[in-house]
Amino acid sequence: MANAIELIKSDHRKVEQLYKRYQSANGQTQQKQSSIPEICHELAIHAQLEEEIFYPAVERKLGREGAELVNEALKEHDEMKRAISKLQASTFAGPECDRVFQELMKGVQHHVKEEESEMLPQAEQHLRSELDRIGQEMQQKKQQLTSSAQPNKSSGKGTSLSV
Ligand SMILES: [Fe+2]
Repeated sequence: MANAIELIKSDHRKVEQLYKRYQSANGQTQQKQSSIPEICHELAIHAQLEEEIFYPAVERKLGREGAELVNEALKEHDEMKRAISKLQASTFAGPECDRVFQELMKGVQHHVKEEESEMLPQAEQHLRSELDRIGQEMQQKKQQLTSSAQPNKSSGKGTSLSV
């Protein structure tokens, strides 16, 4: 069973891989377009797990520094959610869609880098004894979320998950 930090990192790697697939689908519009709802779905679930389970634990254990790290991360999540909502609007397509998506991924890459270089090492140190339990909680929640909100791949309209 993966602990909270391993889970978060494996989600990050998954999104990176999906993004690579998107980038390598040069010119193949169909394949490109189908990657977007899948990535948005992954990101929305990941953000919800962090916000509901992981960040509160970081705030609780890391005091003021934790609150600052969480605040910064939440701001980035908000920006991410705005972009995801745009991309999930069914009328949104074409080059504008690609532009918003690329912008979203730039933000995600920055967020991942920051989280892995600052928040996660701090959490590793201060939450050590709780990481397994938090990881378990995150995994359970993830299962709930993925079974109740599958991305609608056939229509390319993405997930109905509220973000
Ligand atoms: Fe994350």
